[in-house]
Amino acid sequence: MKILIIGNGGREHAIARSIYLSSIPNQIYAIPGNPGIMQYAECLNISSENHKDICNFSIRNNIDLVIIGPEIQICNGLSDELTKYNIKVFAPSKIASQLESSKSFTKEIAYKNNIPTAAYKRFTERDRALKYLNLLGTPIVIKTDGLAAGKGVFICESKKEASESISEIFSGKFSDNPSLIIEEFLKGEEASFFALVDGKNIQPLIGAQDHKRLLEGDKGPNTGGMGAYTPTPVLTNNIIDQVMNKIIEPTVSAMNKNNTPYKGVLFAGLMVTEKGPELIEYNIRFGDPETQAMLMLLKSDLLSIMLDTVNGELKNTKVEWKDETSLTVVLANKGYPLNYKTDSIITGIEDAEKDKNIKVFHAGTRLENNELIASGGRVLNVTATGLSIKEAREKAYNAIEKIKFETKYFRKDIAWRAMP
Ligand code: AMP
Ligand code: GLY
Repeated sequence: MKILIIGNGGREHAIARSIYLSSIPNQIYAIPGNPGIMQYAECLNISSENHKDICNFSIRNNIDLVIIGPEIQICNGLSDELTKYNIKVFAPSKIASQLESSKSFTKEIAYKNNIPTAAYKRFTERDRALKYLNLLGTPIVIKTDGLAAGKGVFICESKKEASESISEIFSGKFSDNPSLIIEEFLKGEEASFFALVDGKNIQPLIGAQDHKRLLEGDKGPNTGGMGAYTPTPVLTNNIIDQVMNKIIEPTVSAMNKNNTPYKGVLFAGLMVTEKGPELIEYNIRFGDPETQAMLMLLKSDLLSIMLDTVNGELKNTKVEWKDETSLTVVLANKGYPLNYKTDSIITGIEDAEKDKNIKVFHAGTRLENNELIASGGRVLNVTATGLSIKEAREKAYNAIEKIKFETKYFRKDIAWRAMP
């Protein structure tokens, strides 16, 4: 089988590794890939934005399945374009991807189907938004309505902060046609939950907890994610049942009723509150760095369950996990997520991976004269498995000691909420 993976992050490296380990014989290509993915795949010099060339490559090479990692290509319609040529794709259609790209689309579905989520109101005019603000208390959450790579969400402690955020969004910083939503602040513990959806049938995967803030103790600016672990104690079986019954299932059936059926992995960003789980947002793809931790525990064959998803055959699929814990720590370049230094040389990955419970996934790296260079914001994901969270955490941090690059930065407290 010929598989094409779109993306170049740690998530796509983890997916490539699991596909490589599949019992279904396969050959992997990646666009554009990275030096980690290169261990398993042929990386092609095609831009992931060039949908025409991706379609042409897939047709010419009889690609059996395209797996799209990042949201941007899905929201820009790559899945639909490939489908036009009868190429199978593990990713939802553009119209279904509004679950991530449009906060108001998702809120509308939640509202109509009694899905627990923060109360909200949408505004297209600055003055009306400011007037509404006066009726509310703090903290309050202001969000731009559209993709903003995690940068369009403002948790405001004061009205002054909130009105500044509203003005910033209406200044056109995020979109030429700005709109925003003002929503209630949810208090609780955040978690990520994933499910495969084949249009109709749903197979729950596993939950994880990400660490979105840059600094220890969950302080500092938001990032793409500084580390994750799975499973997470906050998602008890009881909470997972509620997530499935009250959030995921009604969403999947609403998408069907709207004639925008959902196919792929559905990632629910949750707040587990005193009242139970509430939906913060949906993502229409696997999480990064959650996937790096999760796939290390997957006992089932990833390629086989992805094919079941694409073929509408999830009904009888069993997804099995190792009874262990997995934890991933992001090694970033100092200065991330703003202006970060790049170009220091990385050493020690081989040494770290001598322990069979350690896997180092590449995110922002490149090869130059046979040397590995730390070239991105998030550089590597050091992932460890263990029988307990304590063991996995110790292994990950021991492995990190062995990996050296001058501008290395990482959080030392990943999984702090779950520590005994
Ligand atoms: P989003 O892009 O919607 O995931 O928001 C980014 C982050 O902002 C989330 O991961 C939460 O930490 C936080 N957040 C978003 N909405 C809320 C809310 N209604 N209440 C509390 N925190 C929120
Ligand atoms: N880890 C959060 C995300 O992938 O959006």
